[in-house]
Amino acid sequence: MAAHTNTQYSREQRWSLHGMTALVTGGTKGIGYAIVEELAGLGATVYTCSRNEVQLNECLHEWEKKGFQVSGSVCDVASETDRNELANKVSSFFDGKLNILINNVGTNIWKPTVEYTTGDFSFLMKTNLESAYHMCQLAHPLLKASGAANIVFISSVAGVVLLDTGSIYAATKDVNCY
Ligand SMILES: NC(=O)c1ccc[n+]([C@@H]2O[C@H](COP(=O)([O-])OP(=O)(O)OC[C@H]3O[C@@H](n4cnc5c(N)ncnc54)[C@H](OP(=O)(O)O)[C@@H]3O)[C@@H](O)[C@H]2O)c1
Repeated sequence: MAAHTNTQYSREQRWSLHGMTALVTGGTKGIGYAIVEELAGLGATVYTCSRNEVQLNECLHEWEKKGFQVSGSVCDVASETDRNELANKVSSFFDGKLNILINNVGTNIWKPTVEYTTGDFSFLMKTNLESAYHMCQLAHPLLKASGAANIVFISSVAGVVLLDTGSIYAATKDVNCY
């Protein structure tokens, strides 16, 4: 009896995100950039954001040349107003439905704990943790409407074991927060 295995299908047929929509925060550099490329390469339509408009437009242009379906807008995810605007733009762009939310933005200020200021604490909490939490709340109706949704948090090993990353960053990356 001939076995019907997946090997007869191409990678594209086995792993496809065609028809899927994704929001990736902080997609212009580093891990976020790689995630945008991977999702778009698998056929998803991706929306991303960053604070630097020039760099964002350069990335969008590159992705267009590669044939990827990627759009985006400027947003500082540490700002509640910006997050609300981002969610509205994403909702309009994807017609109220979102399959994948990737909370990627994260940053760090390294200091010994006794030297952190309340401003440092607030900045890191807003950028790394509050933004991801609020983006989930804002995206919730869009994710529900899509009928097939996933949320990914880009955490860090610093949230699991003691590393010399600074205590505030470690707290924002504690996997129990999510
Ligand atoms: N790199 C590592 O070794 C490592 C290890 C473990 C976990 N992580 C986690 O992985 C994630 C990505 O790290 P990365 O190293 O790839 O970062 P990165 O290279 O610094 O890139 C960060 C991206 O997010 C954007 N961004 C930063 N702050 C933003 C804000 N307030 N609002 C909107 N966009 C913002 C940046 O663009 P603009 O600056 O133009 O806004 C950029 O596109 C973070 O959550 C980090 O904690 C990283």
